[in-house]
Amino acid sequence: TYVVTDNCIACKYTDCVSVCPVDCFYEGENMLVIHPDECIDCGVCEPECPADAIRADTEAGMGKWVAFNRKYSELWPVILEAKEPLATADALDGTEGKLETHFS
Ligand code: SF4
Ligand code: F3S
Repeated sequence: TYVVTDNCIACKYTDCVSVCPVDCFYEGENMLVIHPDECIDCGVCEPECPADAIRADTEAGMGKWVAFNRKYSELWPVILEAKEPLATADALDGTEGKLETHFS
């Protein structure tokens, strides 16, 4: 599976939503997540994210992000169409500590 990681937080560009063939992105207030059981591993969303927030779960250290994506994809509504990024997107793209300070 692919997963969304912390640099999506406070950006939420949503380019990923436009390309996913199985509509497996779910939307929280400040970020999106992927449902790990619905993702078909096609990989097309990964290069589309301007924040480089999407990763394959085969990369080192992704276990916690798979659990995070699973948890929130079961709580949040599906998102089917791209929308405007958050107002903070360009200013906060690439900043550290987003999970602690900007996730809610
Ligand atoms: Fe959707 Fe493919 Fe990205 Fe999985 S890898 S979330 S199926 S676009
Ligand atoms: Fe987030 Fe990147 Fe999608 S910032 S909303 S994972 S395009």
